[in-house]
Amino acid sequence: MKSTKDISIVASHLRAGGLVAFPTETVYGLGGDARDDNAVAAIYAAKGRPQFNPLIVHVESFERAKEFGVFNEVAIKLAENFWPGPLTLVVPRAEGCQISLLASAGLDSLAIRVPAHPLAQKLLREFGGPLVAPSANPSGQISPTSAQHVMVGLDGKIDLVLDGGQCSVGLESTIVSCLGERPIILRHGGLVRADIEAALGIEVLSGNDGKAALTAPGQLTSHYAPNASMRLNAQSLQAGEALLGFGDVESLQAQVSLNLSPLGNVQEAAANLFSMMRQLDEMGVQKIAVSPIPNQGLGEAINDRLKRAAAPRDRGSK
Ligand code: TXA
Ligand code: MG
Repeated sequence: MKSTKDISIVASHLRAGGLVAFPTETVYGLGGDARDDNAVAAIYAAKGRPQFNPLIVHVESFERAKEFGVFNEVAIKLAENFWPGPLTLVVPRAEGCQISLLASAGLDSLAIRVPAHPLAQKLLREFGGPLVAPSANPSGQISPTSAQHVMVGLDGKIDLVLDGGQCSVGLESTIVSCLGERPIILRHGGLVRADIEAALGIEVLSGNDGKAALTAPGQLTSHYAPNASMRLNAQSLQAGEALLGFGDVESLQAQVSLNLSPLGNVQEAAANLFSMMRQLDEMGVQKIAVSPIPNQGLGEAINDRLKRAAAPRDRGSK
């Protein structure tokens, strides 16, 4: 992995669909084009995440953020008070939002933030688009607060790190959900609760209080599942089933058929997963048979997600 201070090299690498670690005031992020499913899949692969945890979208200004998310009164107040800075807001996706569905793990919401670090700001402006960036560490390890940490953790996984020295905050951003009427702190971080409460003039609960309605993102009930029923590990087709294939499925004759990856590549399949589930829904299919996906690399996260999508669900609450 190469370390550089040259913003234009980094921006052109990102434009070509590549991944770059870059500094923010909280921790280093592993960045890729937030509109590009393939770049997002590559981020999950580099981090080795066992699940598709949704990622945070980074933009250079509140103005830009409004292109992608819908901000209610509370969200506007928080953005105006604390952006740029160590605060992430979870808001509904705007209509026609161009952010990769894989980036928000198929949720109807979006986590978005405006970082304050001067290099992050410069990079976002030079790149000219939204960057999705989880902390630049292998899954399960500690978030990196220097370019050196990134080099140690992700060596061999990515090509480039933009060196901006030590992160000043050193803790991840505070995440606040602004989906309901009352804001909820989903993750404590660089911005403290007292400052949020002072700005809003109300008490703000956190998911850990046990009083708040929402808990960890992995348990969100709004996780996207298609309207159709799903049958996993399908080697053959039953009457009326559409096929969501993987690898060579030429022997299967479905009226409606999409293939996650004709050549059987799990990273490509990950990039296509959420958008293809949505496509099948939009076509109005009732039953989906899904080919077996090898449980290796990103295959594990794909299978985890498919299992959730296939699980019996309470339609009344959606
Ligand atoms: O300080 C930070 O936030 C750093 C820097 C790089 O910006 N990023 C970071 O990203 O910590 P990551 O991927 O390590 O953590 C993102 C968190 C996860 O806990 C994820 O579940 C949550 O954000 N998240 C993302 N989208 C969400 C959504 N739509 N609803 C609820 N939680 C969401
Ligand atoms: Mg992290």
